[in-house]
Amino acid sequence: MLGQGLSEQAPAKINLGLHIIRRRQDGYHDLATVFHSIGWADKITICSAEEISMTCTDGTLSCGEDNLVIRAARLLRKIADIDYGASFHLEKLLPHGAGLGGGSSDAATVLRMLYKLWELEQTARPLDALALQLGSDVPFFLHGGTAYAEGRGERLTPMTGYVFPFHLVVIVPNIQISTAWAFRQLDVFGSNRVNLMEVVQSNDLDRWRRELENDFEGPVFSKWPEIEGIKSSLLRSGAGFASLTGSGSGVYGIFEHEEDAKQAAAEAAAQGYVTWRPTQDGR
Ligand code: C5P
Repeated sequence: MLGQGLSEQAPAKINLGLHIIRRRQDGYHDLATVFHSIGWADKITICSAEEISMTCTDGTLSCGEDNLVIRAARLLRKIADIDYGASFHLEKLLPHGAGLGGGSSDAATVLRMLYKLWELEQTARPLDALALQLGSDVPFFLHGGTAYAEGRGERLTPMTGYVFPFHLVVIVPNIQISTAWAFRQLDVFGSNRVNLMEVVQSNDLDRWRRELENDFEGPVFSKWPEIEGIKSSLLRSGAGFASLTGSGSGVYGIFEHEEDAKQAAAEAAAQGYVTWRPTQDGR
């Protein structure tokens, strides 16, 4: 078995537009968004073990029953009706409360890794329904890539063949936002909106600036003007489009010119913000 450990990346996402359509009977909201995987990622190492347990590089994070890594492992073990264990080491590189989906991506990665480690391909059900029990965007992270999402975020239309041709910069201030809090701030909903998948596919940044809205920006920017300031400075630095990701606090800028992206990232880092941009191909 895996004495040495097997490692996988758990990549973050950004939201290219996010419409909240209605509040549902079950307390969740129907939404429409485009999820787009990026190269910024946590790293998870897994070893065979008697019990389920984890360690983590981030001392502020619980390694107990409430961590999505442990919850994912326990849920899969219960559904598969087995008593295997596994020990995980989480190298936490993604900020939390930033709208990047780090915890959800960790959960999806654990499900995928355990599926292989425990050799469940023949016996267990597909992972998507299980993933949704762990969080609304966990099903997306099972597959990654770029996908249009509806419902709670689990009804996915993969945007196969979509190419993101721009240079990305992600900036995260020292603010952690609770997704549940952000959803509670919304009280006006509408369903008659542009089709986000179509707008994204145009790859026309002028159009993105006019038509790709994230409904969380209103409440988040009014509570934390600093976050709106980050978006404005990205646009001033030459971003063709900039937006809050998810319910924040992360903000990203999309640039046509790599030099502008580099400069914007350097300025944000000099101001003390956690800043990320891809190192090689601009994706
Ligand atoms: O599904 P997840 O646990 O990630 O959601 C966190 C919280 O965000 C939920 O408890 C709910 O309050 C809110 N939420 C929502 N509608 C969604 C997704 C999340 O209201 N589609």
